Amino acid sequence: MHTSPHHVGIIMDGNGRWAKQRGLPRTAGHLEGAKTVRIVIETALRLQIPILSLFAFSTENWRRPQDEVSELMNLLRRFIKSELNALDQQGIRLCFIGDLKRLENDIQVMLHNAAEKTKDNTGMVLVVALNYSGRSDILQAVRTLLISQQSPESINEESLAAVLSTSDLPDPDLIIRTSGEQRLSNFFLWQAAYSELYFSPLPWPSFDAVEFERALDFYASRQRRFGGTTA
Ligand code: FPP
Repeated sequence: MHTSPHHVGIIMDGNGRWAKQRGLPRTAGHLEGAKTVRIVIETALRLQIPILSLFAFSTENWRRPQDEVSELMNLLRRFIKSELNALDQQGIRLCFIGDLKRLENDIQVMLHNAAEKTKDNTGMVLVVALNYSGRSDILQAVRTLLISQQSPESINEESLAAVLSTSDLPDPDLIIRTSGEQRLSNFFLWQAAYSELYFSPLPWPSFDAVEFERALDFYASRQRRFGGTTA
């Protein structure tokens, strides 16, 4: 049994509710949420988690008011600008998954440059999911397999996983969702087949190192059997 997860995925939820409770605009919640991102990265480094994946923007998030979407994109720009050098110096390799082509051009360039700059780093892998949808991920994988004209019989779980956006990553061992909601909301649908799920009552801006460690304690207490029996 692994007591410490190799790959942790986080669904960062509750920025809006955090702000509403304080009589603040939703964007104030996102701003505070971006600070939590920094704290969580520091904590993951300290706890030596090899891979951290953050669900930052889903394909459904475009349905939000235009100014909220713009603010989220601005936060992303600011985050990359202000943190890239530090992340790089900490040996972090940045990866971005999702349909990035729909993002504004300057952001696409920034993401490409950030991934390029950090590609040889051997420390923690930080995966940021942007305009990501688990179903779309599976769908594009199926299209890729069809285009490659493999025979139907030769397609198996490994060959499909090999053309998902996460092909170079192991499946997440633990998925954390904040703010009390207990669903995956289209994050890592294929990859989460055997993940342990931890639901934190705290909204994302209030999530901190203590709660992160609580999630890891929860993980350590689980006996993972992958459908088999315990020895
Ligand atoms: C969920 O809260 C959060 C988001 C949709 C965006 C997450 C973005 C950040 C934490 C900031 C920027 C990210 C990076 C990587 C710098 P919600 O608005 O759905 O909250 P609600 O459910 O209470 O309305």
